[in-house]
Amino acid sequence: MKVLILGAGGLTGRYLVKEAGRRGMEVIAFPHAQLDITQADSARTVLEKMKPDWVVNAAAFTRLEDCEVNPLQSRDINARAPAEWAKECGKSGVRFIHLSTDYVFDGKKNSAYLPSDPVSPLSRYGKDKAEGERQVMRANPDALIVRLAWIFGHGGKTFMSQLPAILADKDVVELAGGRTGSCTYAGEAARMILDLAARGAREIHHAVGAGQVTWKIFAEKTIERMRNQNRRVVCREIRELSPESIPGLHASRPPFSVLDISMTEMFLGRKIPSWEQGLEEYLTEIGLSRI
Ligand SMILES: NC(=O)c1ccc[n+]([C@@H]2O[C@H](COP(=O)([O-])OP(=O)(O)OC[C@H]3O[C@@H](n4cnc5c(N)ncnc54)[C@H](OP(=O)(O)O)[C@@H]3O)[C@@H](O)[C@H]2O)c1
Repeated sequence: MKVLILGAGGLTGRYLVKEAGRRGMEVIAFPHAQLDITQADSARTVLEKMKPDWVVNAAAFTRLEDCEVNPLQSRDINARAPAEWAKECGKSGVRFIHLSTDYVFDGKKNSAYLPSDPVSPLSRYGKDKAEGERQVMRANPDALIVRLAWIFGHGGKTFMSQLPAILADKDVVELAGGRTGSCTYAGEAARMILDLAARGAREIHHAVGAGQVTWKIFAEKTIERMRNQNRRVVCREIRELSPESIPGLHASRPPFSVLDISMTEMFLGRKIPSWEQGLEEYLTEIGLSRI
């Protein structure tokens, strides 16, 4: 089984490369520097040359504020190019797996979002990811779309990825409040994505750690787990700020974006571990210094 991973240098891409390798798959990993998915004819040329069985698209323009100011680039990377890859994969009989986000929702629902719930994105990023989902499905109805949310993992630039190091270093930690969502350890995300693909899943699936979370709860749990593991914690206070008061956060984010995973659990035939279990695995992975 040969799997080609686009955006292989990103947070999820790196874990996918590792997990696919661990499963004995032949992995072709293309980080951005080696392959720009928006390049004309890149899909057809690469598929012809590499002949993969699966393509996983972990490439995306994920910086929300940058998407607002570069809408054409966001549209190109998050919608047009994935559709082109989906179409070419369909023509060549290659399985296409595309990653998406909880930010396709507006957060007005007060229970967990189902994969079939109508999308209503608030930000440029969310709109283009939603458009990407639509275009991918239209171009290749056999494609699998996996929605993730608030990913954390080693070397990640996301706030949750960096939080353990921040808590080990800063006395007072300020973070965005007012938002409840799902979160996902990138290692578990990679396992779920490859399991779904291996079981022949199609259309949209949600793949996040079980349970729901706010950044404050995540930070408190991280402190508790770090202390249990005898890691150094300097943080003595966590302050929740309203997102509007945080400079530079001008893209709208849904206040509630918990994703329902019951369909995915049924499809996989297993319970998805809680986000706390993912956090434990992450803290063990990164080590950090002992007290
Ligand atoms: N991060 C989250 O919390 C989160 C939450 C929900 C869903 N998701 C979704 O999960 C997927 C993976 O996200 P991630 O967190 O792993 O993102 P990431 O760490 O930002 O990785 C995305 C990768 O795509 C690369 N890339 C950007 N433009 C490209 C292009 N034109 N051609 C090829 N590669 C390109 C980036 O390279 P450069 O760094 O060089 O631009 C980066 O290495 C995305 O579909 C994202 O929408 C992420």
